[in-house]
Amino acid sequence: MKSDFLRLRDWSAADLDAILALTRELKNQQKRGISHPLLAGKSLAMVFEKSSTRTRISFETGMFQLGGHAIFLSSANTQIGRGEPIRDTARVLSRYVDAIMIRTYAQADIEELAHYADVPVINALTDLYHPCQIMADLFTVLEHKGSYREQTYCWIGDGNNMAHSWINAAAIFGFELRIATPKGYEPDSAVMEWAAQQGANILYTNDPLEAAYNADVLNTDVWASMGQEEEQVQRQRDFKGFQINAGTVAAAAPQSLVLHCLPAHRGEEITDDVIEGPHSVVFDEAENRLHVQKAIMVTLMQNSKPDAKNPRNKPACS
Ligand code: CP
Ligand code: NVA
Repeated sequence: MKSDFLRLRDWSAADLDAILALTRELKNQQKRGISHPLLAGKSLAMVFEKSSTRTRISFETGMFQLGGHAIFLSSANTQIGRGEPIRDTARVLSRYVDAIMIRTYAQADIEELAHYADVPVINALTDLYHPCQIMADLFTVLEHKGSYREQTYCWIGDGNNMAHSWINAAAIFGFELRIATPKGYEPDSAVMEWAAQQGANILYTNDPLEAAYNADVLNTDVWASMGQEEEQVQRQRDFKGFQINAGTVAAAAPQSLVLHCLPAHRGEEITDDVIEGPHSVVFDEAENRLHVQKAIMVTLMQNSKPDAKNPRNKPACS
């Protein structure tokens, strides 16, 4: 049966550990100049309905390094942008390629795509989740701290796609997570309820310093995400103070790491001195998108076969 990578909570801790262990192996090989054409002859379709620098380049380069091939599809230049139904796109792409990566708005759209596709589907960011990014973040913490489990994580900013994937990760791995958002920008209630049911150790607060106190990892994101450009001015007012700055770093543990998925708005959610400072690992984090996604693609694509119980041209999902 094919597997999709739509949200972290669909995967067990052991499976995610295995992906991160493979990431380490692939990164070591790449650094030592050892080629690993594990996906020779395979193709990846990359559907982008939002902008990207890191995600597009890392998936495309990753497929090349694995001996495969990636095809960039923007909604503007394909029939997707002219309203071709997702269910048709899914079935057509499945006849050509071995996996589909998609960056879009609604999580329901990638779920529909995955339902109708015979090949694995990877979530490269929706409004609800950004699972590949959190995998790269965990791998970066592993490299710098030796473990991603025994850490206290602090999220300052919007209760958005990034925060939701951190909530998933906290529930799966059992680490402590503290989330500080302005009032009215708390994470999605269904995501929080799911985590509570899992017994996750998560503090929700409106006080950034409470979240940062003695934390091992500080993490933030833009105040206005893609698709929220019209809210930029209002958000600049509402998010004032929800910033990682020298005071936040001083409140955190002495050897804390600072993460940011990038792109960053210096002077808003993070100061220039912190992103350029000794605690920041943001460029390792960006690089690790490449290594982690290679491991995800190998995991999903190497042994993926069309599902006999789930034939092509499936009936409509309910
Ligand atoms: N962090 C991240 O996903 O970056 P891009 O939007 O540039 O892909
Ligand atoms: N929250 C941001 C992340 C960008 C990588 C967005 O959705 O735009």
